[in-house]
Amino acid sequence: MEKQLNKLLADFVVEYHKLQHFHWYVKGSDFFTVHAKLEEYYDEINEAIDEVAEIMLMNKMKPASTMKEFLKLSSIAEPKGAFTSSATVFKAVLADYKHLLDEVKAVKAAADKANNYLVSAKMDDYIGMFSKAIWMLGQTA
Ligand SMILES: [Fe+2]
Repeated sequence: MEKQLNKLLADFVVEYHKLQHFHWYVKGSDFFTVHAKLEEYYDEINEAIDEVAEIMLMNKMKPASTMKEFLKLSSIAEPKGAFTSSATVFKAVLADYKHLLDEVKAVKAAADKANNYLVSAKMDDYIGMFSKAIWMLGQTA
C-alpha cells in the first residue's frame, strides 16, 4: 500500500504542475474561463496532495517529498511547454483524469483488502472528484 500511495502522491504532484502549466499556457478567445477553471482543478489536486501525504503519515508510512522522487515515481507525462488551445488542454486533462480515476479505484481496492478504512474512505472522495471532472471535460468535446 505504501508503494501504491507514493505513486499516487507523485502522480498528483506532477498533475498539479501540469495543470498550472496549462493555466499559464492556454491561449484563445476562451482564455478567461479556461484559465480560471484550470486554477480550480490545481487547487483541488493541491489539497489532495497534502491529504495523501498526511494519511500516509497517520498510517506510519513515509510519503515521498522531493521533486526527484516524484518525477521518478510518476507516470504522468509532463507537458511540452508551448501555448495550447483549450481543446488540446481538455483532451490532455481528460486522459490524465481517467488514468487517475483508475489509480484511486485500485488504491481503494487494496485498502479494502487491508481493512484500511481511512484510506478507502479518502479514495471515495477522489473517485467522486475525478468522476465529476471527467463528465464535465467530456462535455467540452
Ligand atoms: Fe494564476
